[in-house]
Amino acid sequence: MVTRRSVLGGAIGAAGAGLLTTGGLVPLLSAQSAQATEAVTLPAPFTVRMPVPPVLSPISVLGGQDTYAVTMKEVAREIIPGVQTKLLTYDGHFPGPVLRARSGRKVVIRHRNSLTMPVSVHLHGGNVSPENDGGPMDTFGPGTSRTYAYPNQQPGAALWFHDHAHHMESEHVFRGLSGTYLLSDENERSLPLPAGQYEVPIALRDARFDDAGQLVYVMDDVFGRTAILANGRPTPYFEVAARKYRFRLLNSSNMRFFQLRLSDGGQMIQIGTDGGLLERPFTTDTVGLSPAERADVVIDFSRYPVGTKIVLENTLGPGTPDQVGKVLRFDVVRTAADPSRVPDVLRTLPAMAKATVQRTIVLSMDEDGREEPRGLMDGQEWDYQRIDQTIAHGTSEIWTVTNANKIIPHNFHMHLVQFRLLERNGAPVGPAEAGPKDTVRLFPGETVKLHATFDSYKGTYVYHCHLLDHSAMGMMANFRVR
Ligand code: C2O
Ligand code: CU
Repeated sequence: MVTRRSVLGGAIGAAGAGLLTTGGLVPLLSAQSAQATEAVTLPAPFTVRMPVPPVLSPISVLGGQDTYAVTMKEVAREIIPGVQTKLLTYDGHFPGPVLRARSGRKVVIRHRNSLTMPVSVHLHGGNVSPENDGGPMDTFGPGTSRTYAYPNQQPGAALWFHDHAHHMESEHVFRGLSGTYLLSDENERSLPLPAGQYEVPIALRDARFDDAGQLVYVMDDVFGRTAILANGRPTPYFEVAARKYRFRLLNSSNMRFFQLRLSDGGQMIQIGTDGGLLERPFTTDTVGLSPAERADVVIDFSRYPVGTKIVLENTLGPGTPDQVGKVLRFDVVRTAADPSRVPDVLRTLPAMAKATVQRTIVLSMDEDGREEPRGLMDGQEWDYQRIDQTIAHGTSEIWTVTNANKIIPHNFHMHLVQFRLLERNGAPVGPAEAGPKDTVRLFPGETVKLHATFDSYKGTYVYHCHLLDHSAMGMMANFRVR
């Protein structure tokens, strides 16, 4: 396995060997050539500022519909200070832009593909028709456009959009094709939560850079991606006022799981997950996010004197604490008035309809060290023509989903629906999993039971592991609602 560490170690080793074999004349020359090709390294932690991604503006706002036009293009942007890194982007933004939508108000987006590869745009967590779902085979090629319509007939939720072109989705997302889609509803807007500049979307992810500061994509590169980016910058700082902030966290990594905490062990108030607000907020000192999961978290910085610096830390590998243990730093730089409040009740969730069908799903991946491990759903790789589950429209079902692996973590994502978790490993789920979700983590050997109701669209959709390298390797299957 080639890791970033071993690549760098190799370069240093080669220079050392040169010194040994060529004697006294060479050090100066080798020092010069070393300077000329000096490897780009990540900046020291907390030396770059975390930006807030721009909100997309509609090209028209008419009747009940907002229309957007987005161009996918390759651009170079600064991630590491002083280095231009080539990226695949929506409209040139890294991380992708934020689209703000309202429940009950339609969004139409025309995407122009100015890249060199076919693409497909999926609205993750969206209740959309199959033609608008951006499925793995429903791609459009370079130089063409595709229009997606999102009715937003669902409660407020932290959705996101990302590439889904089969076998390419993992590399495309890794190289930048992901954006945030914040859907709000009337109930949410009536709550006195932190808003405006105090509601901040943060996309977290990992990355791997080569010595020239360019992204390196290697399939299933579990150990190589040890640079941590927050809103597209490596371990940045973010200046805050001593008041409450609402952070809309998204783990847009291909494969990295985060377990987040504040460096002083301070409490955070979690108010929502993938499918929107929880019924009740809860306080916690840690937030876990597997790839594609979202957390809606309020942090009250009023408990800190101006001048305090608090690090958002990550306690999960792979990678050493030095590489992956620090995510970003909040610098409390001023005071500010704070009329915001986190109410005791955030929303009322509808009762779950009685489930009449039970299914079991098993995720697994070859972990015997073979060259090309397969990703499997119920023992099979994805076949776009095979319908793996046929569901009668209108039914509610219970799916029991297991990660059969001993070492490899997975998670489970279904298109079309927000599901409810009933159990994790036979026990009731914790408060962070008590709301509607579309992605659920599965550490090795874990089993979850989930409840889903298929009463919106008919048609074929996928379910898959959202460690995107795994789904690209085949850990995906089809369900058809009819
Ligand atoms: Cu986030 Cu099938 O996708
Ligand atoms: Cu997986």
